[in-house]
Amino acid sequence: MSEQREKFYITTPIYYVNARPHIGHTYTTVVCDAIARRHRMLGHDTLFLTGTDEHGQKIERSAAASGKSPQQFTDEVSAEFRGLWDRMGISYDKFIRTTTPEHKRGVQALFTMLKDRGYIYKGSYTGQYCVSDELYADDNTPGTPCPVCGRVTETVQEENYFFKLSAMQEPLLKLYEENPGLIYPETRRNEVIAFVKGGLRDLSISRTTFSWGIPVLEDPSHVIYVWLDALCNYATAVGFGSPDEKDQERYQHYWPADVHMIGKEIVRFHCVYWPAFLLAAGLPLPKQIVAHGWLLFEESKMSKSRGNIVRSETILEVLGADALRYFLMREIVFGQDGSFSFDALVQRFNSDLANGLGNLASRTLSMIGRYFQGEIPYPSATIAHTPAEAAIAKLGAETIAEFTRLFDAFQFSRALEAVWNLLSAVDKYIVENQPWAVAEKEDSDSRSRLATILYTSAEALRVITVLAHPIIPESTAKIFAQLGLSDIANTELKSLRWGQLNVGTRLGRIEPVFPRADKSAIERMQKMEEERKSAAEAAAATASAPEVPAAAAPVAAATPAAAAPEAPAATPDGLPPIAEQISIDDFAKVDLRVGTVLTAEKVEKADKLLRLTVDIGIEVRQIVAGIAKAYAPETLVGRKVVIVANLAPRKLRGIESQGMIVAASFGEQGTPSLASFIESVPNGARLK
Ligand code: ME8
Ligand code: MG
Repeated sequence: MSEQREKFYITTPIYYVNARPHIGHTYTTVVCDAIARRHRMLGHDTLFLTGTDEHGQKIERSAAASGKSPQQFTDEVSAEFRGLWDRMGISYDKFIRTTTPEHKRGVQALFTMLKDRGYIYKGSYTGQYCVSDELYADDNTPGTPCPVCGRVTETVQEENYFFKLSAMQEPLLKLYEENPGLIYPETRRNEVIAFVKGGLRDLSISRTTFSWGIPVLEDPSHVIYVWLDALCNYATAVGFGSPDEKDQERYQHYWPADVHMIGKEIVRFHCVYWPAFLLAAGLPLPKQIVAHGWLLFEESKMSKSRGNIVRSETILEVLGADALRYFLMREIVFGQDGSFSFDALVQRFNSDLANGLGNLASRTLSMIGRYFQGEIPYPSATIAHTPAEAAIAKLGAETIAEFTRLFDAFQFSRALEAVWNLLSAVDKYIVENQPWAVAEKEDSDSRSRLATILYTSAEALRVITVLAHPIIPESTAKIFAQLGLSDIANTELKSLRWGQLNVGTRLGRIEPVFPRADKSAIERMQKMEEERKSAAEAAAATASAPEVPAAAAPVAAATPAAAAPEAPAATPDGLPPIAEQISIDDFAKVDLRVGTVLTAEKVEKADKLLRLTVDIGIEVRQIVAGIAKAYAPETLVGRKVVIVANLAPRKLRGIESQGMIVAASFGEQGTPSLASFIESVPNGARLK
C-alpha cells in the first residue's frame, strides 16, 4: 500500500520582461515561497511555479527601444528575474518562460480546444487598447486614459479571432456562487461578481499588427492575445498540451493549481478570463485565486512605468535576503496596500532580527557554550522547575497552534507577531531569571536551575526558528545549525511540539547571523538607488543615446558618464558637423507628422520635462519632451507641432513617450524651439 502524499501546487504571476524586477515582484514571490516552504515542511508534494511573460506588443516595443531583438531582450531580462530569485532564496520548482516550445504548443492546444468547442469566431475589433496592461479598454474613446494605469490608450482596428466571453456570464456567476472560496479575499470576490453581472462582451484573442507572439496554428498572420498566452502558463508548466505520456501524467497529477497568487490589478484576467477559458474548454478550474494589495513607494504604487521602484538587489547587498523577506511578510498586512521605506525596513530589521532573534540566539547559545561546554543541558522537571518555565512551555505550544492558524489564513503579519511575542516572553524570562547570576553559585540546585533556564531558552529558540523558517530560510538554517541541529527544511511541522529538543545535543559553531545596521545602512541603500535612477535617466534623456527603458538600466555599471554616448567633435563655431550621408530610403523610414497639442503638463520632480498629449490625426500620442525650460505648458495647448511618429516608445521618468517632438536648438545646452508652420496644416499630414 503506497501512501498518497497531499499535493499542493502554487503559482506566482509570470512577470513581464519589459523591465527588470523590483520589490513589488519580490513581494508576491516571497509570499509564495514562504507558503511553498511551509507546505514542504508539512510533508506535502509541493510544486511552486514562477516564470516570465515574454510575448506581446509591450515586450516587442521595449525590445525595439533597447535596440535588441525580442528574443535576445527577453533572454536577458528573464535571466535577471531568475537570478534574483536564486539570490533571494526562492525555492521555485519550475521557472516557466512563455517563449519555450512546450508552452507554445500548450497555448495552441487550448486555442484549438476552444475553437473545436465553438467558442471562437472571426470578427473585427475597433476600439481602444492599453499596451502597458495589454488590455482591451472597451469603454474608452480615443485619447482617454486606461482604466487600470491611466495612460492614453491606442486605437486598434483589425480583424481578430474572438472568444465568446458573453456566453460565459452565467456559468461564471454559477461558479462563484458554488465556490465561495475561489476568490480571496472577499472584497475582490465581490468586485468580480459585480463586474461579471455588469455584462461581458466577447473578447478579442488575436492580434495581426505585430508578430511577437504565438501564431494561431492555421492562420499564422494572427498572434494569440498575450493574456490568453500568459494565463495558459499555469497549465503548460505541468505538461498541458504535451503528447508525452509522462507530461500528461504530470498534468493529471498537479492540475488544477491550488493557489494562483496575484496582485490586485490583474484580478479580472485571473478571475474572469482564465476561468472562462477553462470552463469553455471543459478543463478543471484552479481551487483558489488570492489577490494581495500593492506595495507603495513615495505614496503611489511601485511600478516600472511610474519609475518609483526600489530594487531588491540594493537591500540584498546591504542587509541580506532575509531582511527583505521578513519585512515584506511582517510589515505588509496581506491583502491591503502597504508602504515601503528604507527607514521602516531598517527599523524592523534592527528590532526584530538583529536585536530580537539574533540576540536571543547569541545570548542563549553562548551561555550554553560557557556553562555547559556547548551541550544542551538536562532540564529538571522537579526541584529547579518553576511556574516561569511552565508559562513559557504553555506559550510555546500555543504559539505553534496560533502561527499555524494565522499563516494558513494568509495573515502572515499576525502569524509572525505571534512568534515574536514568544520571543519577547523568552527575553523577559531570561532577564528575570538571570542565568548569569545563577551560574555564580556552585551548589547543585543552582546548577539544575541554570540547566533548566538554558534548556527552556534553547527550546524556545528551536521552535521559533522552525516556525519562522519558511519566511527567513537562510538565517533560521544558520541558527538551527548553531543549535547543533540539521536540515531545518525537513523538520516535520505536523509533529512539532514543545519539549523535543534533545538533551546532550552538541552546539555548532556560534557566529552572528544578522549584520549590524545603523543610519549608514539607510544612506548606503538610498545612495545606491539614487545612482541607479540617475544613470537610467542620463541614458534615457540623451536623445541620441542607445535607448534603454528607464527602469532597465544596469544598476552599478552605468554611471551617467558611462551611459552617455560619445559626442561628435564640434565644429569651430559650436555647430555640430553634418551627420553621415544617408539615402532617400533611409530618410523615408522616418515618419514625421503634424499634430496638435491637446494637453501639456509638468512632469513631477523633473524640471526639464513636459508631458504632452498630441493628436496626430490617426491617434493621440503621449509625448514626454525636454522643453519645460523653454515653454510654459499652457502656452502649448492648441499649437501645431511636428512629431517623429514611428520612433520606438521609451520611458522618461517612468512615463512612456510615444514619439518625439521636433525642435531646433543651438549648441548642447541651447534653448529648444519647436518646429511649426505658417500655413494651416491638418493633423496627420506627413513631412517629406
Ligand atoms: O501583470 N506591489 O506582469 P507584471 C505588489 N505578465 N505587487 C506588485 C507590485 C507592487 N507595487 N508591482 C508588481 C503582469 N507586483 C503579467 C501577469 S500572469 C498570467 C501574467 C507583482 O510584470 C504583483 O504580483 O506587471 C503583480 O500582479 C505582478 O507583480 C505584475 O507583474
Ligand atoms: Mg503590471
